[in-house]
Amino acid sequence: MDVVRDIAELRGTLDPVRHRVIGLVPTMGNLHAGHVSLVRACTLACDVSVVSIFVNPTQFGPNEDFASYPRTLTDDLRLLAHNGADVVFEPPVDVMYPEGRENHVTIAVPSLAHTLCGAARPGHFDGVATVVAKLFNIVTPDKAFFGEKDWQQLTLIRTMVRQLDMPVVVEGVPTVRETSGLAMSSRNNYLSDEERQRAALINRVLTGMKKAVEQGEKDYASAEARGHRVLTEAGFDVDYVAVRDAERLVVPDADTRTLRILAAARLGGARLIDNVGVEMP
Ligand code: PAF
Repeated sequence: MDVVRDIAELRGTLDPVRHRVIGLVPTMGNLHAGHVSLVRACTLACDVSVVSIFVNPTQFGPNEDFASYPRTLTDDLRLLAHNGADVVFEPPVDVMYPEGRENHVTIAVPSLAHTLCGAARPGHFDGVATVVAKLFNIVTPDKAFFGEKDWQQLTLIRTMVRQLDMPVVVEGVPTVRETSGLAMSSRNNYLSDEERQRAALINRVLTGMKKAVEQGEKDYASAEARGHRVLTEAGFDVDYVAVRDAERLVVPDADTRTLRILAAARLGGARLIDNVGVEMP
C-alpha cells in the first residue's frame, strides 16, 4: 500500500494504472466498520482502490469539532492495508488549500445545501462539495464511494457530479450499524457508554416511522412531530426529524414514491444523524 501526501506524487503513482478502473473512498480518517464497508465495496468494483484521509477544515463551523476531531492515522493505515486499499492519499491542509482557505474557490449546491443539516451547519456542505470536487480532480477516479448514513451529503455529491458533468460514478453504500441499531460514526466516540445505548433510539424512531408510513400513514407532519417528541423526551436536543423526497430532499407530496426519513439530534457531546428509506408501492 502506497501512502502519499503530495498531489504530484499521487498522480505519478496513478498514471501507470490509468487504463484500469480506479475507485476513490474519501474519508476524514478515524476509520470504523462503516468505512471498511466502503473500502470493500471499492475493492470489489475497482482494480485500484484509493482512500483519502483528510480532516477538511472548510466543512467545520467556527464552534465545531475540527481541532478535537479524532485523528488516528497509524490505526487507520493498518486497517486499510488489511482491507485491500492500494493507495492512501493523506495530504496536509496546505497541500489542499495552498492559497489559503479564505481565497479558495467554493463549490455550492444551492438546491440541497441549506436544508436539514445545512440549516444547522451553515457553510458545511459548501466545504464538503469543494473538497470532494478537489479530490475528484486530483484522483480522477472512475467510481467514488460514499456512505448512505450521510444521505444529504450523498444526494448533494450526486447533484454536483450531474450538474458539473464530472466523469465519475457515485456509489452509495448502506449504513453499517452497531447491534443496537446505532449507525456507526466517528462521532460516536464522544458518547459515554450510557449515551451510546440511548443513541440507538434514533434508529428505532426512524424505523417506527418507516413502518407507519408503509402501513398507510399519510400525515407526515404528525409522524415527524411524534418522532421529535419521543427523542426530546429521551433527552436528545433534536435538530430535525423529517420525511422527505429521497433525491431532492423536498417535502414529499402524495405522488412521491421514494422517501427518506432523516433525523439529526445532539446527545451529550455528539451530533448524531441517521436515515432510512421507504419505497411506496
Ligand atoms: O463524509 C466524510 O467523511 C466527509 O464529509 C468527506 C466526504 C470525506 C469530505 O470531507
